[in-house]
Amino acid sequence: MTIELVDGDITALPVDAIVNAANNSLLGGGGVDGAIHRAAGPQLLEECRGLKGCETGDAKITKAYRLPSKFIIHTVGPIWRGGQGGEERLLASCYQRCFALAANHQIATVALPAISTGVYGFPKEKAAHIAVAETRKAFAAYPSLQRVIFTCFNAESRRAYELALGEAEC
Ligand code: AR6
Repeated sequence: MTIELVDGDITALPVDAIVNAANNSLLGGGGVDGAIHRAAGPQLLEECRGLKGCETGDAKITKAYRLPSKFIIHTVGPIWRGGQGGEERLLASCYQRCFALAANHQIATVALPAISTGVYGFPKEKAAHIAVAETRKAFAAYPSLQRVIFTCFNAESRRAYELALGEAEC
């Protein structure tokens, strides 16, 4: 069971599932959501229309169409509003729901972006700490899960994960 950090674009990764940081409509947007929809093609939007949206903290799974991965797990992270609105609990819930769906589909390798840390403004270090803690819990809970890749789209994200991994190993 391994956690890896990979720099660059999540849409290029040939893994079992990539995670999308979506919004409640699941009908596309900017950031990683826009990149995934552009790369996967219009059939993804068609399948997403049938899902009737997604609650914050929850996740839904689709096929990956033109992407080199097999599945896309769409999750909706919380918008950071200072931390008093249950944002940390909701972000942890995103990771929990993503890994539970992965386990239901016998998925071994999952790549994730830093959910909520772009447009939604969640502090990167706090988010990385939650991502690492929930991944370790998922490895213990789901034997099918073998490899989790955190994609680092910029140096700040990489640094946040490195710090969180260092803390977890102490
Ligand atoms: N590959 C990997 N990571 C990426 C990529 C990519 N191609 N593009 C951006 N990131 P964001 P959020 C990183 O804003 O904060 C959308 O409009 C980015 O640097 O994509 O959860 C949705 O529709 C950051 O670290 O997602 C929602 O409305 C991380 O992905 C809203 O944005 C997440 O940034 C969701 O906001």
